[in-house]
Amino acid sequence: MDAIECIKTRMSIRKFKSEPVPEEVLLEVINVAKWSPSYKNTQPWEAIILSGEKKEALSKMLIELLESGTEPRPDLEAPTSWPAPEGARIDHLFKTRAAATGVDLSDPVNVKKGKKANFRFYGAPHAIYLFQDASLTLWSLFDMGLFAQSIMLAAHANGLGTVPQAFVTDYAQDVKEFLSIPDTKRLVLGLSIGYPDMESPVNTFRTDRAQTDEIVKWIA
Ligand SMILES: Cc1cc2nc3c(=O)[nH]c(=O)nc-3n(C[C@H](O)[C@H](O)[C@H](O)COP(=O)(O)O)c2cc1C
Repeated sequence: MDAIECIKTRMSIRKFKSEPVPEEVLLEVINVAKWSPSYKNTQPWEAIILSGEKKEALSKMLIELLESGTEPRPDLEAPTSWPAPEGARIDHLFKTRAAATGVDLSDPVNVKKGKKANFRFYGAPHAIYLFQDASLTLWSLFDMGLFAQSIMLAAHANGLGTVPQAFVTDYAQDVKEFLSIPDTKRLVLGLSIGYPDMESPVNTFRTDRAQTDEIVKWIA
């Protein structure tokens, strides 16, 4: 698969086959992703790959925290409002997804169901947590985004599916304790990773993108 096809055909996968991914394939994904660029080559990324019983136990803990009504406290604050263009794109996503899947994400019942599915890592056999030193600046967060995209592309090129998940960082403190990540680190993102179940209707919905002239101006 060439780079352009890889970028254009990657999509978030929200139903996985239970079959585990061989360790050498997961290692290959990380070994590719670590070639991402970073500010002054600082490589400000660390990862934990979680599988098996430990992953199940973490899912259980997250679902219990949700069920108990514990207030989410992610290390990266969830946005409470959006500028108009971004807000309109969220509305568009929710509307098109509701039309395609029948799941209306503006309904709080569905939001809770959706969170639980996130916390189960959508049935994936592995989860990846990305974290970095909490004293690093926004540039390093930017670098982490590049690393995360490289993981997703390298996974896709190897026949794997992924979905980046802010939700699974909701209870950052608990996750860090569970994974023995020091408190001096910030939990940035979780990802589910595994073989995609392309038979599942949830994986047939594709998001679209804004027209290019909405995001680019040409000046000469
Ligand atoms: C930083 C970030 C956080 C995200 N958090 C979640 C999440 O918690 N749960 C989820 O199902 N999808 C999550 N997504 C996936 C986005 O919804 C998805 O990337 C977007 O709708 C575009 O769709 P695509 O990935 O299929 O191209 C997240 C994506 C990013 C980049």
